[in-house]
Amino acid sequence: MLHDPNRVYVFDTTLRDGEQVPGCQLTTPEKIEIAKELEALGVDIIEAGFPISSPGDFQSVVEISKAVKNPTVCALTRANKGDIDAAVESLQYAKHPRIHTGIGSSDMHIKHKFNSTREEILERAVEAVKYAKKSVEDIEFYAEDAGRADVAYLAQMVEAVIAAGATVVNIPDTNGYCLPDQYGNKIKYLKEHVKNIDKAIISVHCHNDLGLATANSIAGLQNGARQIEGTINGIGERAGNTSIEEVVMILKTHQNLGLYTNINARNFYELSHMVSTQMRMPVQPNKAIVGANAFAHSSGIHQDGFLKNRENYEIIKPEDVGFPNATIVLTARSGRHALKFHLERLGFTLDKAELDDTYKNFLTLADNKLDINDADLLLLVNSTKTAN
Ligand code: KIV
Ligand code: ZN
Repeated sequence: MLHDPNRVYVFDTTLRDGEQVPGCQLTTPEKIEIAKELEALGVDIIEAGFPISSPGDFQSVVEISKAVKNPTVCALTRANKGDIDAAVESLQYAKHPRIHTGIGSSDMHIKHKFNSTREEILERAVEAVKYAKKSVEDIEFYAEDAGRADVAYLAQMVEAVIAAGATVVNIPDTNGYCLPDQYGNKIKYLKEHVKNIDKAIISVHCHNDLGLATANSIAGLQNGARQIEGTINGIGERAGNTSIEEVVMILKTHQNLGLYTNINARNFYELSHMVSTQMRMPVQPNKAIVGANAFAHSSGIHQDGFLKNRENYEIIKPEDVGFPNATIVLTARSGRHALKFHLERLGFTLDKAELDDTYKNFLTLADNKLDINDADLLLLVNSTKTAN
């Protein structure tokens, strides 16, 4: 198939890698609701579950396959026939089914997880892809712990699975180990050394153990990967996965990268809220793009600059990600300009002396109260007037 070289496919694994998080388990109806929203968001692939892992997960893949029509529905397997058979069966209703099979690629995993050898693991990888290919055309292969794998061996594995029929090759930094240049160089190496690499799409799947998942995913894309795997709100094993909203907005903000996705970014805020509520996983307030403070300006210097021209302190418009609006938060660090802005919003136009007096009283109040609301402002204006 011919692909637009600038198009980045978005593979969402909120319902698989994200749902593995303790306490985040969802019922099948909840998963269907999220899957429909992921479809509305415009994701290209939904990883709906790991069917062999439990009857509930199997059923979720069946029901999600029936519920969505545009995205590819993907099911995870290990590199064995039992897992693959379960995945094939669970995907029977999918309009666009994909099997995601794979095995460890680092010496650490080969020796200490599989008690095996590079040669044996390579054979198992190829066998799994060939077996899955008998039932499903679209096969994604993951080389688990590729972030720590020897790159020449990784290239050998990727070449072999492409020859066996893999359509997508996933290079996971399973342990969130790599630095961006290391991860980017790994993808570059594969692009340059693997025979027929252009027959498959290279996918990036990064974990956030060192807080580098998004940076590593971008480095992968800059070096030739064209599918990004991640989750809404960056939830996932341990410190989480790459957060889809961050990658999408980076590509939109840095158009000089020349890459784009088909995501409707205006759906991000609502979906983030839905995932956080259903998974009982609060979003940290300072989370990029969707956190409660992502568009809240609180220091006097920033508020003054923002009120003169939003772009002084705003690189993304909140409405572009569906965020209700930017906020000017009133705290003891706020300046006169922010106070004046809020008073005018409430219908008060004060002259300079009145504003100075009100500001003095405001600072006293704000030193003792964390959250200054409209009721506090009304009291403040009235009490300042009465005192004068
Ligand atoms: O992090 C990882 O390696 C994975 C694979 C199963 C794709 O989640
Ligand atoms: Zn993962």
